[in-house]
Amino acid sequence: MNTQPIGIFDSGVGGTSIWKEIHRLLPNEDTIYLADSKHAPYGPKGKDRIIELSIKNTELLLSKGCKLIVVACNTATTNAIDHLRAHYNVPFIGIEPAIKPAALKTKTNAVGILATKGTLSSALFSKTSHLFANNTTVIEQVGEGIVPLIESGKLHSEEMKALLEIYLKPMIAANIDHLVLGCTHYPYLIPLLLEMLPKHIKIIDSGEAVARQTRSVLEKHALLNNTKAIPQNLFYTNGNPDIIKALIGNNFNVDFLSF
Ligand code: DGL
Repeated sequence: MNTQPIGIFDSGVGGTSIWKEIHRLLPNEDTIYLADSKHAPYGPKGKDRIIELSIKNTELLLSKGCKLIVVACNTATTNAIDHLRAHYNVPFIGIEPAIKPAALKTKTNAVGILATKGTLSSALFSKTSHLFANNTTVIEQVGEGIVPLIESGKLHSEEMKALLEIYLKPMIAANIDHLVLGCTHYPYLIPLLLEMLPKHIKIIDSGEAVARQTRSVLEKHALLNNTKAIPQNLFYTNGNPDIIKALIGNNFNVDFLSF
């Protein structure tokens, strides 16, 4: 039993899609969410810079007493989680594009993946892709521009629709039947994607799996919080708090913090 909070960080507001799954599955747990919006997007940055930013976020969460850290960012996971695991003494949960289930389920033998440049060019992604999707056509698309639009509150905009049209077209032409969302900002696009994609294309994201993995690691390390106290869910951003509030609702406090 352990009442310390779970720490969660992302390059910005997207990891709140993961926080929602964790909060749904583990409602007793205290959480601290860090949105490093000031440095978003991480996607176009080099590996060394992504590691540096991930260290900064991790150390801030550890200074606030977190018992486990969820790297709620595919780009930070695929580039920095090995480094974090080697240097800090708490369990880390990461998120990677769900290429394996997509490759297992496809009937057309073609799947699409939308992710950041940093994720698609990482060694970890190419290893997973080789291992599980070697006999599947994988249409990779860098979602350039999507994260900055979400970070500036333009989730529902004509610009977003125009970008997605460009990115989805080659995937639809290649007859994909699964679209893997490889960035934690993208689940917020699902309503729009459902409007734009042919009905037979299934959207896959890893949020729920991350929450289940978080629960099982907490169980394994005897770190679950079984008290019935009302949980505290704190959100910190070094950007505009209103952007997070628009995504998680007004029941939670979002504070500005310089980091
Ligand atoms: N949410 C991050 C991810 O999952 C976005 C990366 C970025 O900031 O470019 O990859």
